[in-house]
Amino acid sequence: MKQEELKKLVGEKAVDWVHNDMIVGLGTGSTVKYMVTALAQKIKTEHLEITGVVTSARTAEQARSLGIRLKSVDEVDHIDLTIDGADEVSADYQGIKGGGAALLFEKIVATNSRKNIWIVDQSKLVKQLGAFPLPVEVIPYGSQQLLTRFAAKGFHPSFRLTSDGQKVKTDSDNFIIDLHLGEITAPAEMATYLKQQVGVVEQGLFLDTVNTVIAGFDDGPRVFE
Ligand code: 5RP
Repeated sequence: MKQEELKKLVGEKAVDWVHNDMIVGLGTGSTVKYMVTALAQKIKTEHLEITGVVTSARTAEQARSLGIRLKSVDEVDHIDLTIDGADEVSADYQGIKGGGAALLFEKIVATNSRKNIWIVDQSKLVKQLGAFPLPVEVIPYGSQQLLTRFAAKGFHPSFRLTSDGQKVKTDSDNFIIDLHLGEITAPAEMATYLKQQVGVVEQGLFLDTVNTVIAGFDDGPRVFE
């Protein structure tokens, strides 16, 4: 199966976890897009009362266009379940997220969610995190200094750029610095170091966040819990 078909497969499978009256966190990315489409369909066919809490302007636009009722994270008293994608997932269910530059809102929604599910195609499952560049969201002021500091640490940082060479801006008007680490041997230490740097808003290591991973394989979706 092609990667796109695997994404669709897990996106559609994930809505099995959604039940009536739930408040559901809606992640961001190309895999989540299939899930949001499937969720809208399920809401219509099963006449469900579902409230979505989005993690990006992109997902908000799609969910609204499909008629999913939305509230902001600050308007709800809990989130039952969040379904999101990931860029890498290790064997012990730690992950890197932020390939779509939505890591800050994704982490806020995930942190406030009772259950978190990641939906990925099999290519995202790795032995060790770090081949995927680790995204770090930074405020623009002083960001060049941060880049220089990360370079001195041997993190091989680069500002994420748009196709026309501008620095990517997140939904919070921040920049993304990607760290080309190759491997992350001590994720918790790395997360702590990054969060301690003034100007860093959030970083893309999602540690001890997820309860369930649905991975797409050629012979169908596999659920890891
Ligand atoms: C966005 C994310 C995405 O969930 C992650 O990049 C996976 O995206 P895709 O499903 O398109 O591969 O973290 O910030």
